[in-house]
Amino acid sequence: MDNKNSYNSGEDLKKINDIILKASEKADKETSHEPEPEYTKPLEWPINCAVGPGLEGAIACETTVGYVNGAKGWLLYRGYNIFDLCVNSTYEEVSYLLLHGSLPTKDEFREYKDKLIKYRNIPKTQKLMAHFPLETMNPMAMLRMGSNFMRHEFTYKAGKNNVELRSPSGMEACHQLIAGFASVAAAVSRLREGRLPIEPDPELSHAANLIYMITGERPNPVEERIMDIALILHADHGMNASTFASLVVASTLSDIYFSVGAGIAALNGPLHGGANEKVMEMLNEIGGVENVKQWLKKTMREKKKIMGFGHRVYKTYDPRARVLGPLAEFLSIKSEKAAKSFKIARALENEVNAAFGAEKHIFPNVDYYSGIVYSAMDIDASLFTPIFAVSRVAGWTARVQEYLEHNRLFRPRAMYHGEYDKKYTSIDRR
Ligand code: SDX
Repeated sequence: MDNKNSYNSGEDLKKINDIILKASEKADKETSHEPEPEYTKPLEWPINCAVGPGLEGAIACETTVGYVNGAKGWLLYRGYNIFDLCVNSTYEEVSYLLLHGSLPTKDEFREYKDKLIKYRNIPKTQKLMAHFPLETMNPMAMLRMGSNFMRHEFTYKAGKNNVELRSPSGMEACHQLIAGFASVAAAVSRLREGRLPIEPDPELSHAANLIYMITGERPNPVEERIMDIALILHADHGMNASTFASLVVASTLSDIYFSVGAGIAALNGPLHGGANEKVMEMLNEIGGVENVKQWLKKTMREKKKIMGFGHRVYKTYDPRARVLGPLAEFLSIKSEKAAKSFKIARALENEVNAAFGAEKHIFPNVDYYSGIVYSAMDIDASLFTPIFAVSRVAGWTARVQEYLEHNRLFRPRAMYHGEYDKKYTSIDRR
C-alpha cells in the first residue's frame, strides 16, 4: 500500500466502522419498501418448486448455516447480520460460527485459535508445492493441489485413503483447511514470484498472517482490519455454485479435501469467484473515466456481460459491495493505484445504473470492488480468487458438515428428448 504507515490507526479504524454502519443504514433505507420475507420452517419433503435451467429456483436442501434475501439485500450467517459481524467480529470467530453453529465462548475460541495457529504451519505441503512450475500454473489449480498435499498430511499419518467426514478427524480436517488455505494461497503467490514461502507468525491474526505471508510485511492495524472484513464478507453465501459443487462431491461420501477441491474448481470460473480478477482487467482496459461511456456502449452492443455486476439472487445492491465499495474509496485516498481504479469503477457503476441497473436489477456484486481493495494492499490480481477461496472454505466446510447430517446422494435428472430406436451401422457404411 502506498504511504504504508500514513494511517492514524485509532481514527481510521473508527472511520472503517462508520463506513459499515452507514452501509447498513443505507441498505435498510433503500430496501424498506420490500416486504418482510416469510420466516420459513423445516420442509415436508418431497416439495414442489419451479425449477429453471441450471437448477435456478430449485431447493436442494435445508440449512441454518446462512441466509441470503435477494429483495431485501440481506446476508445472514447463523442468524447474525453481515454488517453486525463486520463491525464486531473477526474471520476466526465467523469461521467458528459457520462451522460450529454458535459464537464461541472464550475457552472455545482460545482452543480454536490454537488449532488455526497449528494448522497454518504447512512446511511439508509448501515443500511439495515448490516442485511444480508454479509461475506457469493457474493459481487456483495450485490452491487445489496444495489442498490435496494437505490431505496427504492427514491421511498418510492415519494410514487411511479417505478422511471420514462425519467424524472428529473429519471436523479436524475442516479446521486444517480453514487455517491452511491462507498459507497455501500465500505460498502460491510467493513461489510464483520465485520467492520462498513465509512461515506464519503465531502472534498475528488470520487476516494479518494472510497479508504477511503474501507480502513479507506485517500489516498495519488498518490493513489488517480491512482484510479481516473482506474475509468475513466472502465466507458464505447460500447455495452458490462452488458450495453446491462441494456438497455434490461430499454427498458421495468422498472426503472434505476432494469436496473443497470441487469448490475451488467452480469458484475459478469468471461467472462466479473469478469475476474479481476480470473486473480489474476490465477497469484497466477502460483506462480512464473519459472512456467509460464509450466502453459501456460497445459492451452492451456486443451483448457482453459486465464483470462484477448482476447476481442470480440479489435484485438490489449486494450488501457486501455496499461495504467493499466505500472501503475501496477509503483506500484510494492513500493509494494511487486504488484511486485510479476506483474512479473508473464508480463512473462505470453510475453509467450501468443509468443504462439498465434499476430496470434490470443489475447492481455491483461482491466481486466489483474487492479487487480494488486487494490491489491497494499490494496483492497481485492473480491472487484475488484464491483469497476468495481462503474465506469461502469456511462456508464450504460448514455446509458439507451440515448436509451430511442427513446425507442424500445428489442425483438430479436430465430430460432426454433425443431420438429413440436408432439402428447401429458399421463404420464402412457411414
Ligand atoms: C459471485 O451465487 C452466488 O451467491 C455467487 C456469489 C457468492 O458469494 O458465492 O455471490 C459470488 O459469483 C458473484 C457474481 C460474479 N460474477 C460476475 O460478476 C459475472 C457477471 N455477472 C453475470 O454473469 C451474471 O449477473 C451472473 C452470472 C452473476 C448472474 O446471472 P443470471 O442470474 O444467470 O442472470 P442472467 O444471465 O439470466 O441475466 C439476466 C439478464 C440478461 O439480460 P436479458 O437476456 O434478459 O436481456 O440480465 C443481464 C443478462 O444479459 N445481465 C447482465 C449482467 N448480468 C445479468 N448484463 C450485463 N452484465 C452483467 N453482468
